Amino acid sequence: MTPKLAACLRELEVDTAAGKTPNLEEIRQAWRDMVFVWHPDRFLANARIRARAERKIRRLNHAYEHIMAAMTGSGRLAPTAASLSPGTRKNESASCRTPGSGFMPQPRPQNADGMRGKRVIAIASGKGGVGKTNFSVNLSLALAESGMRVTILDADLGMANVDVLCGLTPRTGLAEVIAGKKSLPDVVIRPFPGVQIIPGVSGVAKLSDLTEEQRDSFFAALADYDARDQSDLLLIDIGAGMSKTVRYFMRAASETILVLTPEPTSLTDAYALIKTVTADGGIIPMRVVVNKTASEAEARRTVDSLTRITRRFLGFDPPYLGYIRRDEAVLRAVRRQSPWVISHPGSRASMCVRRIARRLTENAAQAETEAAGGVRGFFKRMSGLLAGRPSRPSP
Ligand SMILES: Nc1ncnc2c1ncn2[C@@H]1O[C@H](COP(=O)(O)OP(=O)(O)OP(=O)(O)O)[C@@H](O)[C@H]1O
Ligand SMILES: [Mg+2]
Repeated sequence: MTPKLAACLRELEVDTAAGKTPNLEEIRQAWRDMVFVWHPDRFLANARIRARAERKIRRLNHAYEHIMAAMTGSGRLAPTAASLSPGTRKNESASCRTPGSGFMPQPRPQNADGMRGKRVIAIASGKGGVGKTNFSVNLSLALAESGMRVTILDADLGMANVDVLCGLTPRTGLAEVIAGKKSLPDVVIRPFPGVQIIPGVSGVAKLSDLTEEQRDSFFAALADYDARDQSDLLLIDIGAGMSKTVRYFMRAASETILVLTPEPTSLTDAYALIKTVTADGGIIPMRVVVNKTASEAEARRTVDSLTRITRRFLGFDPPYLGYIRRDEAVLRAVRRQSPWVISHPGSRASMCVRRIARRLTENAAQAETEAAGGVRGFFKRMSGLLAGRPSRPSP
């Protein structure tokens, strides 16, 4: 074990007494515990201690990233010189108000045909403001806590704000990639271990407004990046509503999570979206998350109301994936521009989103995804849809 690795383990207060080698889960738990203890929100009343806590959090995140970069596929620390190479930070010009950066994932095994079966999940909603972006960001973090590597594509065209919720101010994004001024790796940000963000487009109203040439270069850039990217999952925060772009993202993705709230307007808009997407080309793989609920019972009642109409008029029941409680901690975290899974790890909303993350990873959708060709299959379908070619047949 190198001195630096030993120092990082000490920083996280991981027990390495008597030559004990900690495993991935122990390290992750130690990091979570330390972030919980030192979170700057605990010291709002004292600026001096708060500044100290912020420095401590930066050191903790740096230590965690360094340790994770030294992990091998065996889940045990293997401090070889090669595996200890430090991470690199992209989009250097971005100012990051949330600590943590530089996570460098290790290569993942590929399928026999050389393609990774990366899941592509579109996060959609009929009505705006139901919590898609909060859900996308915090779900990514919850998945990252369990060892997954997640890329968030901020595709809410015109209203991109994943970066805002993460306390980031990126100076470049997809707009520059589309304009050919930047390459995709230049704009990717890694604000938290295991999570990377492709910041959104400002000044582009709809993907369908792009010329064919611009679209092709956009998808080529994404596909090219994906070929070298080591994430397990691509999460796409798509805009609300029923625009063509939204529907195409849903059809092209390997799965969609539809977010709604118990409000009647959210329910009717969710149904309208499902109906329109289904009319485009049949049923798509879709599950439902109910956000801002007072209880699980209310979430179940909401899903029951939705499935009563989808069953009657469309002949299918979108499965229930989970719920997130309406939680003051979310509002506080949003004001601080810090994801609640990090700033309020013990909040009810955080526990709910972790439960959803567990269900997603337990789910057998991976096989379905591989059949759908992973991210490459997604881009192919998306380009085809935008060029007016029919989508894949419904299952
Ligand atoms: N579980 C929750 N509890 C309390 N407030 C929440 C919760 N989830 C989201 N909110 C609040 O709802 C508002 C909208 O959230 P968010 O921006 O994530 O929605 P959105 O669906 O992405 O919106 P848009 O359609 O504009 O992109 C935010 O102000 C957020 O604080
Ligand atoms: Mg949003």
